[in-house]
Amino acid sequence: MLHTALLAAALASFASAHTAAWANGMYCRNGNSTDPSHSEPNTNLAVSPLYNLTKEDWWFQHDRGCDLAPPPTGEFLQLPANGNFTVELAHNRAFTTLSYDGKLTTAWPDGVQHPEDWNSWHGEGSECLEDGALHAFNQSHAAGTAWAISYQSDIKKVNMENLVVFSVLQHTPWKRLATYQVPNLPKCPEGGCTCAWLWVPDKCGQSNMYMQPYKCTVTSATSSVPVAKAQPPVYCADDKSKCVKGAKQMIVYSQLTDNNIDVTRPATPGYNEKCGWIAGPQRDIFAL
Ligand SMILES: *[C@@H]1O[C@H](CO)[C@@H](O)[C@H](O)[C@H]1NC(C)=O
Ligand SMILES: *[C@@H]1O[C@H](CO)[C@@H](O)[C@H](O)[C@H]1NC(C)=O
Ligand SMILES: *[C@@H]1O[C@H](CO)[C@@H](O)[C@H](O)[C@H]1NC(C)=O
Ligand SMILES: *[C@@H]1O[C@H](CO)[C@@H](O)[C@H](O)[C@H]1NC(C)=O
Repeated sequence: MLHTALLAAALASFASAHTAAWANGMYCRNGNSTDPSHSEPNTNLAVSPLYNLTKEDWWFQHDRGCDLAPPPTGEFLQLPANGNFTVELAHNRAFTTLSYDGKLTTAWPDGVQHPEDWNSWHGEGSECLEDGALHAFNQSHAAGTAWAISYQSDIKKVNMENLVVFSVLQHTPWKRLATYQVPNLPKCPEGGCTCAWLWVPDKCGQSNMYMQPYKCTVTSATSSVPVAKAQPPVYCADDKSKCVKGAKQMIVYSQLTDNNIDVTRPATPGYNEKCGWIAGPQRDIFAL
């Protein structure tokens, strides 16, 4: 039974929220509880951005305990080699099919309706969309979100060099459903791989970043060519020759420690061509 009070509660908590990727394999689906009997359908713990934190705290959302709240044993985000996978980008678990049998979902991340050409841009001085959780003026301004993979089952063994960005979806976050393409990834070790959902918005609010932990696995893998060691990305909007080719690290931006990209406003880095990422599956990340 869907109560108005429930919707009101979900909307109230969305007001201060941002965006996360919701799917099987995610950490912190139940809030930050590691008690499997506790499941919080109306949680936005995974969606707050990371800002001005030390690496200890920003790394996989340790600031809110998400790195300590893995999915149930055996549950993974499944990445079909050379195929696609779909997750839900939303401001609260309530607005995904992971809660309330999906009764609060719409085509959008906030559980309400918007025009297809939703746009607040009318030249310099425009306000960003009233849904600040998307950090954008319109779809084409949405900066792009990405996934990275590490062939380490133990989240504690993941580091900047073994966590490689493998897929970029341009002009997201935008709609709730987001489909990412997978390159020719090899299979994961027995205990699976560790993945991260990534986003750096293009202004529209405080400079920040997102790095959300997942347990993931590669299905239908046929390749045995491993991913290469990840290099830090370089902002190259002004000079394409500076773009880093091949396996790249996530962007660490606007943190107190361990930022790995040197960009000052009004420029902002992002998972897009400005930092050397083409849209879609990253096919140049393998150790040849
Ligand atoms: C996370 O879990 C701890 C207990 O492990 C609790 O004290 C804390 O309040 C939780 N944080 C949030 C933001 O829910
Ligand atoms: C970042 O955090 C540090 C330490 O907590 C604080 O001293 C500093 O004022 C913060 N900087 C910004 C820009 O918020
Ligand atoms: C994956 O998505 C792309 C882009 O939307 C599409 O062209 C392609 O056919 C899809 N591939 C599979 C295997 O579904
Ligand atoms: C979307 O917003 C950007 C501002 O970043 C603007 O340049 C672009 O023209 C806008 N698109 C439309 C269709 O208004």
